[in-house]
Amino acid sequence: MHDHEPQSGRVERRPVSARESRAANGPDWDRYADEYQATHGAFLGDAGFVWGPEGHTEDELRVLGDVRGLDVLEVGSGAGQCSRWVRTHGGRGFGLDLSHRQLQHSLRLDEETGVRVPSVRGTATDLPFAAGSFDIVFCSFGALQFVAEIDRAVGEVARVLRPGGRFAFSVTHPTRWMFPDDPGEPGLTATQSYWDRTPYVEIDDASGVVSYVEHHRTLGDWVRLLAAHRFRLVDLVEPEWPEHHDRVWGGWSRTRGTLTPGTAIFVAHLQDTRDLPAG
Ligand SMILES: C[S@@+](CC[C@H](N)C(=O)[O-])C[C@H]1O[C@@H](n2cnc3c(N)ncnc32)[C@H](O)[C@@H]1O
Repeated sequence: MHDHEPQSGRVERRPVSARESRAANGPDWDRYADEYQATHGAFLGDAGFVWGPEGHTEDELRVLGDVRGLDVLEVGSGAGQCSRWVRTHGGRGFGLDLSHRQLQHSLRLDEETGVRVPSVRGTATDLPFAAGSFDIVFCSFGALQFVAEIDRAVGEVARVLRPGGRFAFSVTHPTRWMFPDDPGEPGLTATQSYWDRTPYVEIDDASGVVSYVEHHRTLGDWVRLLAAHRFRLVDLVEPEWPEHHDRVWGGWSRTRGTLTPGTAIFVAHLQDTRDLPAG
């Protein structure tokens, strides 16, 4: 599932703890951040909002709605491109990311663009904000698929949102987990069970230490997770591969993208407890 080759390691599907996931992914993103920004920065745009490797932008999809005057948190904000877009559209965008190096890139882009995104280093499972602080929380391929304790992460989003607030996030489309992570023809044949939630793990050959982890949830898992935290799912956007788009990003390509969805964008609203039936 990784969008770059493991540096010097092997790939496995095996269980990992929350601590192992976090301990692996922070340093992995620190190591990878320079290459990530050099490779994808122009595609993302310094103050652009791209929802996934298909290249659909928030200007096109309008998933968040009008952000003017709203408090907006991006979880797994990387270099803050999306939150910078929020700022240029009248919202108060804030970033949070696990990776120190990604946040250094965010500061660099703040200076280069003159659009500053106040950002904090932290993890999605322990958001350092008071309850009811935001109108919108979103992730564009941000933290969610890197987090083992997803129930806790979604609970944290529900806590920091105001009633009626919106939660929108893009992740690798759950159906992609059936296929080898290959942008070419081999990536079109299902080789593993859709229902196998065993995490994708990279292990460093030299140290034997877990160096990268991604977690799979099925479509039903996401629906149940949202419902359990008082969210009402209002849309599931499955962006189609655009006609003139030929960019390969990891396992995302025209070859696969015209046949199977690569990205899922969930859109949910936090229900006001006063509107819920008693009991
Ligand atoms: C694929 S990048 C996406 C960043 C940005 N949205 C973009 O489009 O470039 C995923 C980001 O999630 C961050 N991340 C991974 N695990 C996280 C966690 N547990 N809490 C917060 N951020 C996390 C990584 O450091 C990385 O910057």
